[in-house]
Amino acid sequence: MTAIVLLGPPGAGKGTVAEALAGKGYTHVSTGDLLREQIRLETPLGLEAKANMDQGKFVPDKVVVGMIRSLLESADRGQKFLFDGFPRTLVQAEKFDELLLSLEGAIDGVILLECPAEVIVERLSGRRTCGKCGTVYHVKYNPPAMHNICDTEGCELIQRPDDNEETIKKRLEVYAERTAPLISYYKAKNLIHPINASRSIAEVRSAVLEQLG
Ligand code: AP5
Repeated sequence: MTAIVLLGPPGAGKGTVAEALAGKGYTHVSTGDLLREQIRLETPLGLEAKANMDQGKFVPDKVVVGMIRSLLESADRGQKFLFDGFPRTLVQAEKFDELLLSLEGAIDGVILLECPAEVIVERLSGRRTCGKCGTVYHVKYNPPAMHNICDTEGCELIQRPDDNEETIKKRLEVYAERTAPLISYYKAKNLIHPINASRSIAEVRSAVLEQLG
C-alpha cells in the first residue's frame, strides 16, 4: 500500500488536482468529502463534524484518524492512495505513519500546493459544487457549460457553507497554525515536492503529473 499526500491551504486546488488524476490508478480520499457525507447522512459523527466545519475549525484528530484507520484496514495490499486534506495536524501525521507501518505501507511523496492568500480567497468565493456527484467548478476558471448547472447531473450547483469570507479567513489561520508545521515534518523525511499552484488548472496538473513520474 502506498500513499501520495496533497498538502496545501484551503482552496489551493487539492480536490481539483485529485480529480485531474482520476484514471491514474489512485484511490482519492478526501477527508472533507467523507465528513460532508456523514453530515448529509445526519450521523452522530456528522453532527459533531458540522459544528466544527461551519466555523472553519478542524474536526478532532481522533475522529479523522478513526475514519482513515477503518478505510486503510479494509484496503488491498497493493492499493495506491491519494490523500487530499489528510493529514493536517502533526498528531494526524504521526498516527498516519504508525498506521502505514503496521500495514506495511509507506508515503511515496507529499505534493505541496503553494498559493498566496489573495488567490485562495478568489478561488473559494467562486467555487461551486455539484451536491450529487461532487464535481467542483469555478464561476470563472472552470465554469460548467450551462450557468450554475452540473455538466453531468444537470442539477443546480451549490456553494459550500464554509466558503464565506469570514470562515475562509478562519480556515487560513487554522491552516497556518496547525497544518503548515507539516511542511517541516515531511521535509525532514525528504518527501516534499513543492508546486506553484497559483498557475492555471492545466499547468498545475502537468506539474503534479511530472512529479509523480
Ligand atoms: P476540505 O473539504 O478538505 O477543505 P479544504 O482543505 O479547506 O480545501 P478545499 O476543499 O476548500 O480546497 P481545495 O484545495 O480542495 O481546492 P479546490 O480544488 O476545491 O475540508 C473542509 C473542512 O473539513 C475543514 O475545514 C475541517 O473542518 C474538516 N476537515 C477535513 N479534513 C480534516 C482533517 N484531516 N482533520 C480535521 N478536520 C478536517 O479548488 C478551489 C476552487 O478553485 C474551485 O472552484 C476550483 O475550480 C478552483 N481552482 C482550483 N485550482 C485552480 C487553478 N489552478 N486555477 C484556477 N482555479 C482553480
